[in-house]
Amino acid sequence: MNVSIRPIFKYTVIAILVLIGTKAHSQAPLITNIKARKVTSLNGPWQYIMDPYETGFYNYRFNERNEKDREAYWNTDKPENKTDRKEHGYSSKNTLRVPGDWNSQAEQFLYYEGTVWYKRSFDYKKQKDNNRLFLYFGTVNYKADVYLNGKKLGSHKGGFTAFNFEIPGTLLKEKDNFLVVKVDNRRYKDEVPTINTDWWNYGGITRDVWLAELPQQFIVDYSVQLKKNSFTEIEGWVKFSDAVNDKVTIEIPELKWKKELQSNGDSISFSEALTGLELWSPEKPKLYAVRINTSENAVTDKIGFRSIEVSGPSILLNGKPVFLRGICIHEEIPQQGRRAYSLGDARQLLLQARSLSANMVRLAHYPHNENMTRMADSLGILVWSEIPVYWTIEFTNPEVLAKAKTQLSEMITRDRNRASIIIWSVGNETPVHESRTAFMKELLVTARQLDGSRLVSAALEVHLDKGVSVVDDPLGEFTDIVAVNEYLGWYAGLPSSIKNVQWQIKYNKPFFISETGAEALSGHHGDSLTRWSEEYQEWYYKEQVAMLKKMPANFSGISPWILNDFRSPRRNNPVYQQGWNNKGLLDHQGKKKKAFYVLKKYYDEIKLKTL
Ligand code: GCU
Repeated sequence: MNVSIRPIFKYTVIAILVLIGTKAHSQAPLITNIKARKVTSLNGPWQYIMDPYETGFYNYRFNERNEKDREAYWNTDKPENKTDRKEHGYSSKNTLRVPGDWNSQAEQFLYYEGTVWYKRSFDYKKQKDNNRLFLYFGTVNYKADVYLNGKKLGSHKGGFTAFNFEIPGTLLKEKDNFLVVKVDNRRYKDEVPTINTDWWNYGGITRDVWLAELPQQFIVDYSVQLKKNSFTEIEGWVKFSDAVNDKVTIEIPELKWKKELQSNGDSISFSEALTGLELWSPEKPKLYAVRINTSENAVTDKIGFRSIEVSGPSILLNGKPVFLRGICIHEEIPQQGRRAYSLGDARQLLLQARSLSANMVRLAHYPHNENMTRMADSLGILVWSEIPVYWTIEFTNPEVLAKAKTQLSEMITRDRNRASIIIWSVGNETPVHESRTAFMKELLVTARQLDGSRLVSAALEVHLDKGVSVVDDPLGEFTDIVAVNEYLGWYAGLPSSIKNVQWQIKYNKPFFISETGAEALSGHHGDSLTRWSEEYQEWYYKEQVAMLKKMPANFSGISPWILNDFRSPRRNNPVYQQGWNNKGLLDHQGKKKKAFYVLKKYYDEIKLKTL
């Protein structure tokens, strides 16, 4: 590569950056489409130490241990000789599977909230000496402190978004690297989410871990999508690790299209009208191989091209009104009571949704793993993706707003090229208040700044006033679609009261019901008035469907709560819940409850009408 600056100066700059890098403990910009890079998996059994008192991090005076402290759990656990005193140790007797939550892997972890130290050793020989190395985590819940060979690489907070650290050039050894991650899943009022949620606080390294080897200058991130208001023109940009003077090519071989550009900075942008471009849709989820090359680096992605917009009371997909036949999904495999993370998990959950005749999923209440959004691209299932600004966040705390924005940015950065994602949601059921609306509006503005091509929304508040469901949440003024969660017939009244409910929606925008649902313990039967029975849940859905058939003209879809029963520490009825929220249409074993068929029938009728 003909770099414009003299080599000596270049290497001096790099040395300074490496020095800064080792000191700053800062994350490196997220490397997108990580599996398409030159990566080595660090998944598998990691040894662990459960450390509720954080002894590995603080000394007996509760001061943070310094880097060289021999009793710090990021330093070697091997005694120097027979006299040496070591009061911590990693053992092959104590391992946890990575990726995976710790709660489902051993009884003593089920309710555990605190610190667990993960450790694995690995050998690695770089392909080229002056290549760069990065450690990439699909996510860690909730806080991760990452150390390699006794040096801190950095920290990350946020239990559902990806992050990566550069490994300083001199730190990695060819043999026996000592990688340690301190994971702390404790809940705090000033975090995102806050201390109160209706889902299990699964802790751990819950998604893949990769070691990526990249050239000095590489492609960090890119966006390639349909230009707004066009069905034939694409536009995008490519971001490089450093400012480069280089030839960049973008190509879509199937369309016999290739564009050559000259970069002279750390990014380039482009737009082009294409002939023969087939749009992505649920009916025909067409994905194209898109290849980006520089003289040193190349990356290929599978990208679908579609447009999503609102027009008055309608949502338009590729210019045509679309009705969202949705279902909410937690990132959980109920059969094993664990976090979902794999390709197989994504296939299971999305095929279950499709068996309901759904064309959309609301990935509640946090960004799901990348297998899920890529699988949705392939299967043609539309996606609502959300950050966990859930319930009673500290809306007056600017640090909490910054944390929420970071998670929003991390969610959008990873998934901006996923055609299936049509809605970015900035939160769920947050209590109406001036500070909350200002906080959420900031997030909506940020989401639009990060990605102006998708709809932005949130699950808003609705209130019942003398039998009228009133939707006048002030945040609705700033969202593209107005979405609310309603539980008429479960939390408010009985299903028999649903038919009399009128809707009063303040906004002439697409209206979406982002949740509705009732619990049923699978196999528990009685008459429809028997709470917790499948018959009650079935009655609830029948009454809900009857109401949905009389909704106002701007009614554009629904995502009932929820596909599967899921774990929740808030659900403690000793017979009908036992630590599970049983609003699933499928039970813990994936068996369909009676209500499943009511919703499926409704969706099939809609599908037939739209054919
Ligand atoms: C709320 C919330 C969900 C919760 C559900 C319920 O709407 O958004 O996270 O699980 O209601 O009460 O079951």
